[in-house]
Amino acid sequence: MSDVSETQISRWPHWFVPALHWIMALLMAAAFGIGQVMEEVPRAERAEIMGYHALVGISVLVLFLPRILAVLRLSPPAVQDDPRLVKIMARIAHGLLYLAMIAMPVTGLLAVMTSGRNFPVAGLFSLPDLGRIEWLHEGAEEIHEFFVPVLVTLVVLHVIAAVWHHYIRHDDVLARYVPSLRRRDS
Ligand code: HEM
Ligand code: HEM
Repeated sequence: MSDVSETQISRWPHWFVPALHWIMALLMAAAFGIGQVMEEVPRAERAEIMGYHALVGISVLVLFLPRILAVLRLSPPAVQDDPRLVKIMARIAHGLLYLAMIAMPVTGLLAVMTSGRNFPVAGLFSLPDLGRIEWLHEGAEEIHEFFVPVLVTLVVLHVIAAVWHHYIRHDDVLARYVPSLRRRDS
């Protein structure tokens, strides 16, 4: 009998890896969507919707560490014969997506915590008020806004890459994250 366990020989990531990927993709999309709507609401009436925006964004931050650990420990490398440059580009793109996942919630949190007022999060809890710190508030808000088009561009390129792998390269990169696309013989 072989002493190599099924997880050791599997080329597919553990289900937890794609599950976290899709949950966090939805949360990022929701934070983005609420952020856009929020900008349309007059400042005086913005508190409630901003609380929901913050809650969704904080969830992204909370899930970040479990995700990184899951990717590192539970996802065997994909078998790809892509050119070195393509692999490097994928690494850079994923790195930048991780950066956006951290930078957006952190700058959002800093912006509200240095605005000089109490910030209720969807009636659940309040964020600490560090007092009005003008430079930090303005800087964090600017970085938060800077990342919005960066995130959109990265996600568009990321989705194009996933489609390219599946329909042009005919490899397993998308199937690793969408089990229903896996061939029966694989
Ligand atoms: C995944 C995380 C997040 C994403 C994708 C995101 C996205 C956005 C977007 C799209 C906007 C509208 C910006 C514009 O169109 O100019 C926005 C604004 C804002 N977000 Fe976030 N956000 C995230 C997390 C957070 C968190 C955790 C907080 C606070 C706790 C926060 C606080 C704010 C604030 C205060 C604004 C308004 C800035 C202003 O009025 O100029 N965000 N965010
Ligand atoms: C329809 C939308 C999306 C599709 C089709 C998609 C597809 C994929 C696929 C196929 C992989 C595996 C790549 C590999 O193993 O080399 C992957 C990984 C990844 N995706 Fe997406 N993705 C989508 C949305 C997003 C969004 C919105 C984000 C973040 C804002 C994101 C961030 C990442 C990151 C950081 C990885 C690296 C591995 C991991 O953390 O699980 N994706 N994506």
